Amino acid sequence: MIFSMDLRNPQIPERFLAGLKEQLGPFEYYEFPDGASKADVFQLVTEKERVFFVKVAGIKDQNNNIDNERKACHWLLRKMPVPKVIHFQKHKKWAAICTPQLLGESLANALDQLPPETAVKIYAQTLKQLHDLPIDDCPLRFSLGDRIALARKWVEKGELYNSEFEPENQRYTPDALFEKLLQLVPHEQHLVFTHGDYCMDNIFVNNGELSGLIDLGRAGIADMYQDIALAIRSIRHELGMEYEALFCQEYGLDNLDQDKVDFYILLDEFF
Ligand SMILES: Nc1ncnc2c1ncn2[C@@H]1O[C@H](COP(=O)(O)OP(=O)(O)OP(=O)(O)O)[C@@H](O)[C@H]1O
Ligand SMILES: [Mg+2]
Repeated sequence: MIFSMDLRNPQIPERFLAGLKEQLGPFEYYEFPDGASKADVFQLVTEKERVFFVKVAGIKDQNNNIDNERKACHWLLRKMPVPKVIHFQKHKKWAAICTPQLLGESLANALDQLPPETAVKIYAQTLKQLHDLPIDDCPLRFSLGDRIALARKWVEKGELYNSEFEPENQRYTPDALFEKLLQLVPHEQHLVFTHGDYCMDNIFVNNGELSGLIDLGRAGIADMYQDIALAIRSIRHELGMEYEALFCQEYGLDNLDQDKVDFYILLDEFF
């Protein structure tokens, strides 16, 4: 395992708690039921009933790069709606970040009430806005070479299991899937500021409008299809393929490069 904190008993490190208490006063907190990631997420409620989130990950956990998340939140502040970082600490073994709770709920959860067309429009227009940001002064990069190198590292360490791949890839061993990935590497890149994990869980909406972006640990300059591919995958899973065309139209994409979509979805199997 890359991350050696006690996963059965996730805790906010004492030093981080002390810093938070100084800043926020007394609060209660509990572990937030989370997805598959190795980060530990907690929800905090202060005496004045202000709500915050704390995310803690191992310092070497490049899948949950808390330092990158902090830098991305900082870079995006006033450019896009992102939570302001209230507190951040980095130590030898762990890094932790605290952000205020965004209003509303994730786009994935909001699908119960939002018309699908509205959800797709918000999803596509937000991505277009993000990708249109000028990147000259952006210090965050997540090159394709770095991503492939990370994927290789996890394959070599034996940390991937084909039972966790998408159903169509489960017949491959991680080694074989990695070989397949290498054969499909695109020749051209269109570099923009990318979210890095642009699935509907990480986009928050409130009253039918965007309220913010979270989970920016893998954000930085990369190919636009890093995000487009994961958005297309999210749309297929949550809504169905018939909404892909609307997404492309709202993003302003005349021709969806299906090979790149396939490649970046495949690449995400390793993350
Ligand atoms: N600032 C915030 N406002 C509202 N909800 C938040 C905030 N930060 C985290 N959350 C909640 O905690 C969940 C996990 O946070 P996040 O996505 O950052 O971590 P993660 O470990 O990468 O999780 P996953 O692997 O499930 O994407 C989010 O899906 C969201 O429900
Ligand atoms: Mg997330």
